[in-house]
Amino acid sequence: MSRTQPTIDQPGVCFFFTGLSGSGKTSIASALDLALRHQHGRKTTLLDGDVVRTHLSSDLGFSRAHRDINIGRIGFVAAEVVKHGGIAISAAIAPYDSARRAARQLVAPHGCFILVHLATPLAVCEQRDVKGLYAKARSGEIKAFTGISDPYEPPTDADVTINTSQVAIADAVQLLLKQMNDMAAVNNKR
Ligand code: ADX
Repeated sequence: MSRTQPTIDQPGVCFFFTGLSGSGKTSIASALDLALRHQHGRKTTLLDGDVVRTHLSSDLGFSRAHRDINIGRIGFVAAEVVKHGGIAISAAIAPYDSARRAARQLVAPHGCFILVHLATPLAVCEQRDVKGLYAKARSGEIKAFTGISDPYEPPTDADVTINTSQVAIADAVQLLLKQMNDMAAVNNKR
C-alpha cells in the first residue's frame, strides 16, 4: 500500500489589517490573498470588513460594543484558520486597541499574528471617498463614522505600517510577504 509523503507543516499566519475606511485594506488584502494562493500555494481565508458584516455580523451596528463583538468574531475565526495551518487575512477598520490586542491573544498561541496598520492619512481617505461615505458622514447623514465622528486609535504595536498614498499595492504585498518570512524564520530558531 502506498503512503502519501509526509509534508512539512507550515505554520498558520494571520495578517490583521487595521485602518480607516478608504485606507486601502481591501485592495492590499485582496492582492496579498492572490499572491499567497497563486505564488506560494497557501490556503487563505479573506475576512473583509464589508463581507464579514454581510455574512457573519449582519446583526451588528457601529457602536463601540458592536465593533468589539465584530472584531471578536473575526479574531475567533482567524484563530481557527491559523490553528489548522491556514492563512487568515482580516481587513476590518478595527478601530480599538483593546479589541485588536484581544485578537492577537486569541491567534498568537497557534501561529503568527501580523498587525498591519494602513496609516493612510484621513485627508487622503476622505479625498478617495470610494463609497461616498465620508461625504455622508460630514453632512451628518451617517452617524459615528470612524475618523469623522467616531474614534480611531492608531496602534502602538503594529508589526508593519504602510501609508498607501506613498506605497504601491504590489510593493505593499512584497513588504508583507517579507515580514511573514522574517517572522517564520525567527519562530523556527526558537
Ligand atoms: S469595524 O469598526 O467593526 O472594524 P468594519 O470594518 O466591520 O468596522 O466595517 C466598516 C465598513 O462599514 C466601512 O468600510 C464602511 O463601508 C461601512 N460603514 C458604515 N457605517 C460606518 C460607520 N459608522 N463607521 C465606519 N464604517 C462604516
